[in-house]
Amino acid sequence: MTTVLVTGGAGFIGSHLSQALLDKGYQVRILDNLIYGKREWIPTGADFIEGNICDLATCHQAMAGITGVFHCAACPVLHPLLMILISALKLIL
Ligand SMILES: NC(=O)c1ccc[n+]([C@@H]2O[C@H](COP(=O)([O-])OP(=O)(O)OC[C@H]3O[C@@H](n4cnc5c(N)ncnc54)[C@H](O)[C@@H]3O)[C@@H](O)[C@H]2O)c1
Repeated sequence: MTTVLVTGGAGFIGSHLSQALLDKGYQVRILDNLIYGKREWIPTGADFIEGNICDLATCHQAMAGITGVFHCAACPVLHPLLMILISALKLIL
């Protein structure tokens, strides 16, 4: 069976993509650090690795036996701390 990796698979796009791939008969492995994703969004039947795509050892582990990768891990919104910093800078300047 073909196994694919979905990074960010606990997020909005990645979880729907993972479900669609499972429905098509693929074996799905998800790599997500849950910074924005939700554990309950991970589709039943997918393997889940909680980890950071910036960590090489984690990526090696996640890539073992993988045929293809769908890269959906991202931080599409600014980190709250960064938003506070930007607001503070606006006040100062
Ligand atoms: N949602 C949309 O309508 C939409 C439309 C067009 C494009 N996109 C793009 O698709 C991508 C995903 O968007 P989304 O809406 O699913 O966002 P999302 O925040 O719901 O999902 C992103 C996932 O990536 C995970 N993640 C973030 N950094 C990580 C890291 N370092 N290691 C492992 N996992 C990490 C998060 O925990 C989250 O589960 C983004 O690049 C976004 O710009 C989204």
